[in-house]
Formats: sequence, C-alpha cells, structure tokens
Amino acid sequence: MGSDVSGRILHVELKERTYPIVIGSGTLAEVGAYIAPMIDGGRCFVMTDGNVAERHLRLLIAKLDAAGVRAVPFIVRAGEQSKSLAVVERALGAFLAEKPDRRMPVIALGGGVVGDLAGFVASVLLRGVPFFQIPTTLLSQVDSSVGGKTGVNTVQGKNLVGTFYQPKCVLIDVDVLATLPEREMRAGYAEVVKYGMIASADFFAWLQDNGRDVCAADAEKCVHAVATSCGIKARIVAEDEKETGVRAHLNFGHTFAHAYEAICGYDGTLLHGEAVAFGMVMAADLSLRLGVAKDVKVKRDLKEHLASCGLPTDPSLYAKDVNPRTVLDYMGHDKKVQGDRLRFVLLKNIGTAAMRYVDDRDALLDLISSYSS
Ligand SMILES: NC(=O)c1ccc[n+]([C@@H]2O[C@H](COP(=O)([O-])OP(=O)(O)OC[C@H]3O[C@@H](n4cnc5c(N)ncnc54)[C@H](O)[C@@H]3O)[C@@H](O)[C@H]2O)c1
Ligand SMILES: [Zn+2]
Repeated sequence: MGSDVSGRILHVELKERTYPIVIGSGTLAEVGAYIAPMIDGGRCFVMTDGNVAERHLRLLIAKLDAAGVRAVPFIVRAGEQSKSLAVVERALGAFLAEKPDRRMPVIALGGGVVGDLAGFVASVLLRGVPFFQIPTTLLSQVDSSVGGKTGVNTVQGKNLVGTFYQPKCVLIDVDVLATLPEREMRAGYAEVVKYGMIASADFFAWLQDNGRDVCAADAEKCVHAVATSCGIKARIVAEDEKETGVRAHLNFGHTFAHAYEAICGYDGTLLHGEAVAFGMVMAADLSLRLGVAKDVKVKRDLKEHLASCGLPTDPSLYAKDVNPRTVLDYMGHDKKVQGDRLRFVLLKNIGTAAMRYVDDRDALLDLISSYSS
C-alpha cells in the first residue's frame, strides 16, 4: 500500500463465505499480492466500463499479468443503461467463447453499475464462478461492493432481477477516486454521511470536521471514511445478509430518494447520492414530526453538513412544482411497502436508527408539500 497512508483490512463475517475488504492507497498496483493468489487456473475475466478502462484498466492487466494471471477484458458503455439483460447476454457469450471452467473468476473494475452487472454475470456463469470487486467510485467503495447484492434493471424497474452473491475479496484503492468527477464524489459521500446518521454519532462528528477533505479525495481521510463505512455495512450485512431486519436501516433516506429519482427518470439529472442527501433530510424531518426524534439537531446538523459539502438538502433544484401526491404515489412503488403502510427508516438520534410503518398519508403529504415549492 502507499507508503505514507496506512491501509486496513476488514472482514465480512458470513461463516464459510467470509471475505476480506482491503482498503488503502495504491492497492490496485498490489492486485498481484491480494487477488492473484486467490485465482486458480491463471485466467480471469475483467468487466469494466469505458471511462474506467481508459484510466485504470492497463495497470490492472499489467499487474495481473506480472502475477501470472491473463485477463480477458469486457468493456461496457458507462452508465446505468448497461445494467441490462441484453448486456448480460453479450457478456456471457463473450465469456463462454473463452471456454472457461468454474475456477475462472470475474473481476469487476468500476462503479456500482459494473459491480452489480459483473456480480450477476459471475453468479450465473456456469452456475457461479468466483467474483472479485475492485470498486472505483466512492459510492461503490462504501456501499455497492459490500453486501453481495447483484442485479440488472428491466422495463418494470431498477434492480428487480438479481441475486445475492458474495465476492471472494473486495480490493479498494482510494487513489482511483482522484479521477472521479467531483459530482460523483459528492454523491457517493452522501452514503458515507448515511452511515454516521444510522450507526455512529462519533463518525458523524468526524465527518463534520473532515468531510470536505474526503470529498476532495484526500487519501488518508478517504481510507478512514471508507473503512469506517465498510465496517458499519459489513457488521449490518453479517447480522442480516438477506435483508429481513436491520439491513433495512441502510435505506435511510432512500424511500424519499427513490421517488424523486423515478420522477426525474434516471437520466443523470439527479444522481442517486444527491437524492439520498435530501431524502435523509426529509427522513430526519419526519423523525421529528412523528416524535421519534426529540432533538432538532438531528435535522439541523445533517442539513448544515450536507450543504457545507455541496450536497442538496431539498429536491427543488431537480423536481420543481411536482405534485406532492405524485411523490407519495412513487413512494408507494418502492419495494419497502407493506399493505397501505409505507416503511421508513427514521432516527431517534444522530447515530441511532429505528424502523417505523407510517399510514398517515396527510402527515406525509404535509411534509412533502413543505419541500415542493
Ligand atoms: N449492490 C448494491 O448493494 C448497490 C448499492 C447501491 C447502489 N447500487 C447500484 O450502483 C449503481 C450506481 O453506482 P455508481 O454511483 O458507482 O455509478 P457508476 O458505476 O455509473 O459510476 C458513475 C460514473 O463514474 C465513472 N467512473 C467510475 N469510476 C471512475 C473513476 N475512478 N474515475 C473516473 N470515472 C469513474 C463511471 O464510468 C460512470 O460514468 C446503480 O446502478 C445502483 O443501483 C448497488
Ligand atoms: Zn443508496
């Protein structure tokens, strides 16, 4: 790992499927030490997208080669559209043409799009081949690469087809964040803030002091932020791999976020992390309105911090003059609905989440209206 920044190794504890998350600066160049020894048979597939390929693929291939592993790359077009069954079919065709055996792994080098797609492909290719994640966006480093959810989108909606499939190892190099566009970096940072809000007041306090450096891709601060976030996610996933309980806390802010993302149409106008930023403010607001939280700091400190990092704290920039009923209807389309009641992750305090079912539509409409001018 980079000489002046110390790295960390965490584990996602899932019995015989326990796997390491290696986090550091310069770790991509050390793929020969971390991943190559876990590859049997001397070959692997590497899935990536055009943007990442241009910047980081050559180094990965060279380092694998030096470790005696030949990489077969498959490059998809950057963007959410690549998370489709059509791309899965093309990838499977290209991979099967190499006559792989079950030992030949798939490595995902990219953001959440590549990770979700490659994980899905790995889980169905020959009924499952080994899978490795090298996430290259802040969002994928702190969220999508850990936890084993894979998937693609269909006309019926996002992520409705997929598998739970754990990687053998997640290798995180914070140095690759230096090439990530600032807006993507900030969007990923919203998920980092989420971990503080749902699970650790201390971490949130650290972010209040250091968040701007994280957003500016300071390597040492990124290692701490990514490692703490992954540690929280790993603990939650180990407790509840298939999301029957506490894993749902990771959806803090997401019921609101998903509605506005759907309204905006996933065309890049509103990034997921931006929607999560103001979605968390709305969820904190709801926590206060329902009396789950008593201290106004829950909303005030969150809002101030997000704003200081250049993240949106209300949806007005993206979804102006949207009828609050439309927002509520879209919230009903979310997977987190039971009967007529919507399920929300709320906060008791900064660092403590609680699940609540809400059936008071008027209270929800009132809240949404206050964000709809
Ligand atoms: N599996 C899960 O648990 C989970 C969790 C959260 C999100 N997701 C999924 O993740 C996806 C979003 O992931 P994302 O935000 O990483 O988006 P993304 O993969 O589309 O990446 C964002 C953009 O950054 C570019 N990029 C990536 N790394 C780069 C780098 N180092 N330098 C320069 N450019 C780079 C990409 O080409 C792309 O244009 C969504 O499909 C979402 O559903 C999955
Ligand atoms: Zn999210």
